[in-house]
Formats: sequence, structure tokens, C-alpha cells
Amino acid sequence: MGRKTYYVTTPIYYANAEPHIGTACTTIIADVMARYKKLCGYEVFYLTGSDEHGQKILRIAAEAGVEPKAFVDGVVAKIKQTWQDLNIQYDYFVRTTDEQHKKAVQALYRKIAEKGDIYKAKYSGWYCTPCERYISLTESPDKTCPVCKRPTEFLEEDNYFFKLSNYQAKMLEFLKAHKDFIVPESRYNEVYSRVEMSIEDISISRASFSWGIPLPDDAEHVVWVWLDALTTYISALGYPDNKDNFNKYWPADVHFMAKDILWFHSVIWPCFLMSAGLEPPRQICAHGWWTVNGEKISKSKGNMILPRDVIAKFGVDSLRYFELREMVLGHDQDFTYKALMSRHNNELGNDLGNLVLRTLVMIGKYYEGKIPQPYENDFSDEPIRKMLASLQEPILSHIEHFQFSNALEKIWEIVRAANKYIDDQKPWVLAKEKSPKLSSVLYNLAEEIRIISVYLTPFMPTACDSIRFQLGLSSEKVTLPESLEFGQTEVGTRTFIDKPLFPKIEEEKTAG
Ligand code: MSP
Repeated sequence: MGRKTYYVTTPIYYANAEPHIGTACTTIIADVMARYKKLCGYEVFYLTGSDEHGQKILRIAAEAGVEPKAFVDGVVAKIKQTWQDLNIQYDYFVRTTDEQHKKAVQALYRKIAEKGDIYKAKYSGWYCTPCERYISLTESPDKTCPVCKRPTEFLEEDNYFFKLSNYQAKMLEFLKAHKDFIVPESRYNEVYSRVEMSIEDISISRASFSWGIPLPDDAEHVVWVWLDALTTYISALGYPDNKDNFNKYWPADVHFMAKDILWFHSVIWPCFLMSAGLEPPRQICAHGWWTVNGEKISKSKGNMILPRDVIAKFGVDSLRYFELREMVLGHDQDFTYKALMSRHNNELGNDLGNLVLRTLVMIGKYYEGKIPQPYENDFSDEPIRKMLASLQEPILSHIEHFQFSNALEKIWEIVRAANKYIDDQKPWVLAKEKSPKLSSVLYNLAEEIRIISVYLTPFMPTACDSIRFQLGLSSEKVTLPESLEFGQTEVGTRTFIDKPLFPKIEEEKTAG
């Protein structure tokens, strides 16, 4: 039997601007899960990509005076650069302008048409171009977009429709049978009630422009961007030709996103798939929005905070840590430099950075930089072992349930306990007294730091590599849960002191 697989995705982001810390958030979350599952021995496929068709992109490219393909090529380069800056280890970057993707969209469309779920009719109604979605007057009587609050445009054209309404009963049945399909639970309840109320057929083509994938049976129309975009989740696996790879990874284990696009993923996408005879994804996780002064961060609001600016001041791991520690799953979170600086200086610099530095300095001073042999009859490590053992299940369970803030909070219980252990044991006094207990205390600290670095590897990979390098464990292969077992550091290992992990940031250097 092959290894267990894990397929995780981010939304494919509109190729209209470089990523901001909101789009970075979903990408970091998916990266943490991909890295975590790799450590657990899974064969992981982490997909991200770009959404390049549709009227919105077409208009922005025209405003920039560039052909749409040249325009999106430029933005995609910036997106990829941002993911590199953020240390994102995706396995594949899919673009809706890829030839393979076009083939997949047309194949999926054909399957849905063969099922008899597509019909042609006149569409007249309101459309939000920035969100590329149709608005019904029931959801928004004043014709503004219920998601982005911008005015919509009146459209009247012949369109192809998908019989979404045919799937109401099936969808309810599916949701009932899969109570953890949507997390957090509050979002599940929202979606369930909306499906129960009514679901209307949706238009899945546009005829007034041609920047998109032509409908297989009517080249006058292009496929609606959302059908186009959602299909990336299977086109990236090689659908419809590469059956082996498709069967290996589909259904996706989790699609991550923010709440704005939950309906498309939790209802429209599964219904397209059911119509085509394919399985729905296993889980949808919708987090909240990053806001500035309560307003969603977005290009159109002009309140973008760019990862590269934050990274230049605080470092990549600090941004990754902050986004995951600060935001509670499902809730919106306001971004302030003050909060970032506080977490950076206090939790990363003082708590973690100093723990590592103090320990290494003492190992350097008292044991020539080598991990000492613990004193045999000293059981002072017992409370530490107990604490580590009792925290393992909650920490791993929080990660499994995407509760990253809670997981980090628990990991910090270990960090704080280790600092307290130093304060209580006073190794400098033990050294003065020539107490044999000194070696146990320092061995235990080195072990605790190693275990902390194992937990933190998916969150802050660069800092954890540095911690392991400083502990002399640079070539150590981390695996979960094995590497969490106490007592793996080898006596005599040579340690090093490198530059500070999280240098203190002074207030005047930051704005806001
Ligand atoms: N192209 C569509 C998605 C198609 S997926 C098949 C799209 N793109 S988007 O560029 O607008 O990205 C939306 C996603 O970006 C959100 O669902 C979320 O993952 C992320 N975010 C964008 N702004 C965000 C915040 N201000 N805060 C948190 N996440 C944000 O919709």
C-alpha cells in the first residue's frame, strides 16, 4: 500500500495585484498544514495558483494599456515572488490560462451538459464585476454586492445556466451526512440554512467579452470565471487524462479560503462535481478577514499591507507567526503594527529567542558548548516530561483542526515553562556550587528547545532550522510524532551560537 496522501489548496488569487497580508494568510495556513502533514509522513500535494480570466482582469489590463495575457504574466511573477519571500512550499502553481486547464474545464463542462444540467436562457439581472458574481434581489434589494458592497451592473444577455436548483435536496443530504464538511461550525450552519431556504440556477457563461475559455459547444460564449477557477482544483491533478494522479489525490482533503468565497466552494463547487459524477472535496475551511480599522484589506480599498514591507522590518517567520497567532479561526482580525511589534518583541524575541540564547550561552560557558550528560539520579526533569506529555495531544489536535492560534498558545506554555525552569533552577548558582544537577538542567533545556522547534517547524521553518543548527542537530530529520519524544539529543553534541533569532524592533522604526 502507498503512503497516505494529503491534498490541500488555497483559492487561486485574481491576477490583478500582488498579494497582501490577507491573501498571504490563507497561503500561510495551507503551507503550515502541508508542512505539518509532510512531517507526519503524508505524501502532500499543495496547490495554489492564479485566476486570470474574466471581465475584471480584462478591464484592469485595458486600464494599464496592456494585453491581458501580458498583464497577468506580470502579476503572476509578483505573486510567485511573494510566496517565495514567505517561504511557501507549494507543489504546483496552476494558472487558468494553462492549456491543460482549458482542456479540463471543457471536459467538466461536457460532463455536466451530458447529465442534462445545462440550458440556455436570457439572463437579465445584476452582476458584481469585482467579485465576478451574479446578485439576486432577494439577497440584496438595493443592488449593491452583498460581499464587497460595491454597486453592481445590469446585464442582459443570452447565457447558459446550470441547474443548481436540482441539487438542493442532494446538497442538504450531503451536508447532513458530513457535519464537519465546513469549518468553523458557525459557517456550516450559515450555509445549511441558506441551502435549506432556496438555491437558484446560476448562469455559467458570458457572451459580452472573450477573455476566457470558450464553451465547447458555443464559442460565442466563455465559461463563467467561477466555473473556470474552481476547476483548477482538479485540472492541476491532470483531470481528465491523468487518472492515476487524479485518483491518488482527489477528493481534496481541504480547500482553505476566507468567508467571502465560501458559498462558491461549499455549494456551487460540490454541485458541479456531483453533476459530473465526481466526489465533492472532503472539507472546506473558511477563516475571517484581515482588516485595517475594521475595513477588509483589499486592493480596491487602497489599504493593502504588503508582506514584503512587513518582512523587511520583522522577518518572514515573525509575519507567519503573527498571522497565525493573532487570528482566531473564523473571526476577523484587525492588523496593527503595534500588535505585530508586541508579539515580535515579547513572544518571539524575549520568550523564545532569549530561551535559546540563554541556554546556549550556559552550555558554552559550563560545558565548552557540548550537550552535557544529565546527572543520573536527578529526577528534576519529571515535571517537564509530564508537562510535555500532557500538551502533545492538545497541540496536535489544535493543528489538525486548523486552530493555529490555540496551538501556538499551548506551545508557548512550554516556552514559558522552560524560561521559568531557568529562573527556578538558577543554573549559575548550581555552577557556583559545583552541583551535578547543572548538567541535568541544561540537558533538559536543550531537549525542551529541540521539542519546541519540532512543534514550530511548520509555522516558522527558517527559525527552527536555525534553532536546530545551533543545537548541533542540523541534519536531524524531524518526524511527527516520533521527534516529540523526550531524550533524543545526544550527549556530547556540539552546539553553536548564531545571530539572534528575532532581533528587537524599536518603536520608531514602524509606522501605524
Ligand atoms: N479568484 C477567486 C478565488 C477562486 S478559487 C477557485 C478570488 N480571488 S481573490 O484574489 O479575491 O482571493 C480571495 C481569497 O483571498 C479569500 O478567500 C482569502 O483566502 C484571501 N483574502 C483576500 N483578502 C483577504 C483579507 N482581507 N483577509 C483574509 N483573507 C483574504 O476570490
